[in-house]
Amino acid sequence: MKVQDMLKRPMRDLRISVTDRCNFRCRYCMPIEIFDSTYEYLPREGILNFDEIERFAEVFAGQGGQKLRITGGEPLLRRDLPILIEKLSSIDGIQDIAMTTNASLLAKHAEPLRAAGLDRVTVSLDALDEEVFGAMNGVGAKPQRVIDGIDAAIDAGLGVKINSVVQKGTNEGELIGLAHFARERRVPIRYIEYMDTGNTNGWKLDHVVPSAEVHAQLAQHFTLESVGNPKLGETAQRFADPSAPGFEVGFISSVTKPFCRDCNRMRLSADGHLYTCLFASEGYDMKSPMRAGESNAELADRLVSLWGGRHDRYSELRSEGKAGEPKKEMSYLGG
Ligand code: GTP
Ligand code: 5AD
Ligand code: SF4
Ligand code: SF4
Repeated sequence: MKVQDMLKRPMRDLRISVTDRCNFRCRYCMPIEIFDSTYEYLPREGILNFDEIERFAEVFAGQGGQKLRITGGEPLLRRDLPILIEKLSSIDGIQDIAMTTNASLLAKHAEPLRAAGLDRVTVSLDALDEEVFGAMNGVGAKPQRVIDGIDAAIDAGLGVKINSVVQKGTNEGELIGLAHFARERRVPIRYIEYMDTGNTNGWKLDHVVPSAEVHAQLAQHFTLESVGNPKLGETAQRFADPSAPGFEVGFISSVTKPFCRDCNRMRLSADGHLYTCLFASEGYDMKSPMRAGESNAELADRLVSLWGGRHDRYSELRSEGKAGEPKKEMSYLGG
């Protein structure tokens, strides 16, 4: 019997944050004036080690979990990541291991990660223009580093997707160029509506460019054919360009078209707390029972009862004007 939550959604996807730190300070995620001053990062000893992460992933897979995503913060700041990937890729039932990264450090890590069993990377890239990108990432990082990371990942045989967050008045002029970039490399690009994650980014509804507008802009330059309705649990509405196999445009529209209805994602923070929603205020401590010596069967009971009681649907409630609780930051609980 598959584990289901209160809204009959199965548990499929585990997003594992391996660090709450990042070498970028994207304004929509880790605004520098907060994350370089008052923000309290996790202490080193509070962070799960690789054996603990592997153990929890085994428990998750034992309850029907199929997909893992390594995330952060920036996961490549965590040392020896291929060792973790190797452990995870040998778990029965896990069909896919992906990683979300800003790719600034990917060029040298792509090969060893692939060799260890990583299947795919999703690279965040919001602009190709140096000034626009430098301002968005908050530290003046150059797009070329990210491009080198993407190309190294393609060469290493990793699946690659590009994610671009769209912010009004910031990178609207970059969207067509980014699509050409993805088309040249025959990889999918997804445009993400800017979201009200965490409490620090100063999000306002009028900073959001609705996906419908981005779609209309792109349709003037590319032939976009719908790939059909999103698959169960899929975040993006996808469009293919028949003249460029491999290239796809997707829209992740959590603000204008929430996709909570079949959300099957669980999140594990670097300090071993489980979150049943990206916008959750409270996590569920798994680290303490793990460190107190509970058996895998006991941990599985905790997991099943947490998922069984889940009724999160934040993005839908946001549209109904019901959002308001303080949230955890996305850099902490995992994109
Ligand atoms: P794959 O289909 O496995 O490639 O993953 P995905 O579609 O979940 O994509 P990815 O992990 O790259 O997520 C893309 C972006 O979608 C994230 O960076 C978030 O901005 C957003 N996102 C992902 N999961 C959720 C979610 O559960 N809720 C909301 N509101 N947004 C999400
Ligand atoms: N709104 C939308 N997407 C966001 N991301 C981070 N913060 C936000 C936000 N406020 C995305 C990044 C990256 C992934 C980790 O999450 O662009 O692709
Ligand atoms: Fe770092 Fe990614 Fe957040 Fe940017 S969006 S600050 S790259 S974790
Ligand atoms: Fe899932 Fe929460 Fe995102 Fe809705 S808002 S899709 S419930 S993580």
